[in-house]
Amino acid sequence: MDKLQKKAILNQVFSPIQPIQEKDFFFGRMSQLTKIIDAINEKGQHAILYGERGVGKTSLANIMYKSFTNIYPIKITCDRRHTYRSLWEDALDKIQYSQTINGIGFNAQCKSKMISMKSLISSYSDLKTNQIVNLLNDLGSDYKLMFIFDEFDNIADQNTRHFFADLIKSLSDNNTNTTIILVGIAESVEALIGSHLSLERCLKQVKMPRMRKDECEEIVNNGLKLLDLKMDKLVLDKIVEFSSGFPHYIHLLCKYGCLELIENDKNNFTETYLTIAINKGIDNTSEQLRISFREAISSSSSSNKWKFILYACANCELDEFNSFTITNIVKEYNKITKNNVKNSDLHYCINELAKANRAEILTKLGKGRSTRYTFKNPMMRAFVKLKMNAK
Ligand SMILES: Nc1ncnc2c1ncn2[C@@H]1O[C@H](COP(=O)(O)OP(=O)(O)OP(=O)(O)O)[C@@H](O)[C@H]1O
Ligand SMILES: [Mg+2]
Repeated sequence: MDKLQKKAILNQVFSPIQPIQEKDFFFGRMSQLTKIIDAINEKGQHAILYGERGVGKTSLANIMYKSFTNIYPIKITCDRRHTYRSLWEDALDKIQYSQTINGIGFNAQCKSKMISMKSLISSYSDLKTNQIVNLLNDLGSDYKLMFIFDEFDNIADQNTRHFFADLIKSLSDNNTNTTIILVGIAESVEALIGSHLSLERCLKQVKMPRMRKDECEEIVNNGLKLLDLKMDKLVLDKIVEFSSGFPHYIHLLCKYGCLELIENDKNNFTETYLTIAINKGIDNTSEQLRISFREAISSSSSSNKWKFILYACANCELDEFNSFTITNIVKEYNKITKNNVKNSDLHYCINELAKANRAEILTKLGKGRSTRYTFKNPMMRAFVKLKMNAK
């Protein structure tokens, strides 16, 4: 394999920005995929796939879109301007059917033309739930349809979200050929679609967690194998640890490390290449993360205190809500600085990190003794680790 061929493969196997499109490059997530398949197979059930930013929701939606053979898939990426009507116009525009039209005059031939289902709602001035249900029912039960609405959190109009809740309930009661799958960034289902008790049974909730260690390792090992490159175990462990379960960072570090190896005709991804990958990775990740980090650690003195507190936060063990306590932070801080400070010594600084002048890098949850902290942008945890390990 020459350099050019390797670079072409590199772009396929390590894609830090683009969601995964092909099954061959998609790893793990079997339990989430199984839950969605169960929802599709269960008449009257729909699904909602939710989770933190960047955990791989769109990639899973793409794999669903491509993998199911006995269902007609339609995928829409929602944006801020979408309304209930425009979402359905976009979705139905993707379904074409042929209509036979009689010619005019003697012996005129019949013609068939393709019509988009969007035209069927153009006469409705105010699109109602039952009109969508009837339209889908008219297709008959020979057709199975799956509508995936990705980035559903982008929808600004609250009414649109409520209409979707009503639609799902109505489809569940009155339709058998359609499955709706909503996908979006949210901590809970309520945050994405509101609270609707009537949806409990008909909307399968599928939470997309951060990636497990073995899933992260699979991404790395598969890419290296295809590129015919090797990696020290220590480096693999570090990449997985830095990524904090966010596949974006796995792809980012592997991409820049492997690129450097390919450029230099080398094939062993050692710590030297990891350092290069970290530096290049930092330069090529979100500008917003870089700005927030800079604001959070800004200091008039040359003290590294803010940096170390932030690094301590990034190293904290997480609970089920991805949050940590001041005691966790202080323990990690003392490990890093080899100091022996107490909770009260860091209390002020930690609370400052949750304020606007330090980019609200942390979010404070709860009050008093039960106060916990979390990174406002979950991807910051990995970014802080990279910054602190950059040379
Ligand atoms: N199962 C997977 N296997 C390999 N790589 C993955 C997997 N899932 C996601 N990725 C990679 O992780 C990165 C983020 O994925 P994706 O865009 O799907 O996340 P997302 O949750 O939709 O993000 P957002 O919240 O910003 O919409 C991409 O680089 C993608 O290639
Ligand atoms: Mg996405």
